Amino acid sequence: MTPTPLMPLPAEALRDRVVLVSGAGAGLGRATALRCARAGATVVLLGRTISKLEACFDAIAELPDAPEAAIYPMDLSGASDRDMHDCITRVVEELGRLDSVVHAAAHWQDFRAMSDVLSSDWANTLAANITAPWALTRAALPHLQAVEDGCAVFVDCECAHTPAAFHGAFGVSKAASRAMVAGWALENPGIRLHTFDPGPMRTTMRLLGYPGHPAESYPLPEIPAEALSALLAPDAAHRAQIASQVHWASDPPPSSAP
Ligand SMILES: NC(=O)c1ccc[n+]([C@@H]2O[C@H](COP(=O)([O-])OP(=O)(O)OC[C@H]3O[C@@H](n4cnc5c(N)ncnc54)[C@H](OP(=O)(O)O)[C@@H]3O)[C@@H](O)[C@H]2O)c1
Repeated sequence: MTPTPLMPLPAEALRDRVVLVSGAGAGLGRATALRCARAGATVVLLGRTISKLEACFDAIAELPDAPEAAIYPMDLSGASDRDMHDCITRVVEELGRLDSVVHAAAHWQDFRAMSDVLSSDWANTLAANITAPWALTRAALPHLQAVEDGCAVFVDCECAHTPAAFHGAFGVSKAASRAMVAGWALENPGIRLHTFDPGPMRTTMRLLGYPGHPAESYPLPEIPAEALSALLAPDAAHRAQIASQVHWASDPPPSSAP
């Protein structure tokens, strides 16, 4: 199911806020980066392919009144704690604050039986999809706590909660991410932590994974990006009545319906 926005993101809702988006070169990450920039945020575009990040940077530069974005290249599969710390330090030094982190990047190899997963794919997938988001959020935490209504959004998918065959390390990483966020939120870290299931989208990941399905059968990532971006607004906790709890974006609480 593709989530609908809890409430539309008001114009200028993210003005003066700084949002770091991983996987900003493509798909949901790119759509989220553009949506946040359109709402006035300064967006840090994190990803591993510089040409894709530059293309997103240029698209943001063409938006009227959007603050200039920043590019931070990083391969999350090979990043160390030090890399995460350096990234967050640089962002805060250059931009003065950090309000939100969106973890949209994900490593996906292919569908295969668990017993056929290569050790290298296992390591790369868990590094990019669970270790890196954890370490980046941990490094960002003091800064997210220092602003009003800081938050982190971890993008997962249906396989995070419904066991699926042939999802290999990817399925394991998404289930682990959901468990991590749920546990972390219970510890009341002083920021909102969300898991967000965008539903099927017309992106490279989906089209590679399901080559027989017509691309038009999937919504564009701009649709879930609208719902995701709405979670980043300073008054999102109030509007969605979700405080600092885990929020399942594909199953919004009835009281938050527009
Ligand atoms: N597409 C769907 O139908 C669907 C459904 C449910 C959930 N999701 C989730 O939505 C999120 C976004 O996926 P998408 O469909 O937008 O995929 P996508 O278009 O393939 O984009 C994935 C992005 O992640 C980046 N990335 C991958 N590995 C990386 C690494 N090691 N370091 C840094 N960046 C890395 C990619 O960079 P490069 O472009 O440089 O490779 C790309 O920008 C993922 O978490 C995915 O699991 C997708």
